[in-house]
Amino acid sequence: MTHFLDILPTPTADLRQMIGQARTMKDARRDRPKGMCDDETPLDGRMVALIFEKPSTRTRVSFDVGARQMGAQTMVLSGTDMQLGHGETIADTARVLSRYVDLIMIRTFEEQTLLEMAENATVPVINGLTNRTHPCQIMADIMTFEEHRGPIKGRKVVWSGDGNNVFASFAQAAAQFEFDLVFTGPRPLDPEPEILEAARAAGGNIEIVRDPMAAVEGADLVVTDTWVSMHDPVSARERRHNQLRGYQVNAELMGRAKPDALFMHCLPAHRDDEATSEVMDGPHSVIFDEAENRLHAQKAVMRWCLGV
Ligand code: CP
Ligand code: NVA
Repeated sequence: MTHFLDILPTPTADLRQMIGQARTMKDARRDRPKGMCDDETPLDGRMVALIFEKPSTRTRVSFDVGARQMGAQTMVLSGTDMQLGHGETIADTARVLSRYVDLIMIRTFEEQTLLEMAENATVPVINGLTNRTHPCQIMADIMTFEEHRGPIKGRKVVWSGDGNNVFASFAQAAAQFEFDLVFTGPRPLDPEPEILEAARAAGGNIEIVRDPMAAVEGADLVVTDTWVSMHDPVSARERRHNQLRGYQVNAELMGRAKPDALFMHCLPAHRDDEATSEVMDGPHSVIFDEAENRLHAQKAVMRWCLGV
């Protein structure tokens, strides 16, 4: 079974193939109405289930639209409306869904839920974000960087802020796509040591630099994300804001990066918290290309999972 659970366990050549295919599919449908199918519809006759146990705008819409453009039918399921939210096991849910659908995408809390779904499903499962990682986002991010600046290999990527799930997938990508990654943030919000260890063991060059100004020096790409993720307790908001204020991506910080550095944010953003609107709407920012590329990258991920 070809699941897309994370960046690190996916073969490097396959990740590369998916990014290339995403680019080709994007080019092939330039200026085409969004609701029109692609010329090629490799998912004809397939049924795709999209399960959300957390809110989503981009993941939900881009998977749904992408699957339909490739000829599939889709159903969006809210975790709380399913028996899953009322005590049915993940394993039983996975076995049952596999009798109805050809592909499952799930956004959930614990990584264990995703893993149990994958273990028990007899159809491919895609990770649409867990508390721990967000691999689909990073496929779009790599695609976006390379579209604007060419190969990411050997480039310097700086993450400023919380060492969260999106950072974790960047750490895995640093190993797979061979870019240098610098994390800058307050010690209490450091990335999980196991994530760093695994990415480093796979060859990722990942450094932690506390001073954001020093960290960003010479960066080709500056990335940040919300200071309070969906799985973080609301009560942590004020503390996190105090801890992270010095890591805001603003014009001064971007000014330390290379003059042609890009700025990315997976969105949704809290404008003027983790990044200023000046940066988000400024000349370095590619945040809406990044959001668009979720669509193209995930279409390639779905094709890879189904082998079509
Ligand atoms: N970036 C991202 O995954 O956005 P959504 O939460 O809107 O899906
Ligand atoms: N780190 C964020 C990403 C949202 C797409 C979260 O998990 O809420």
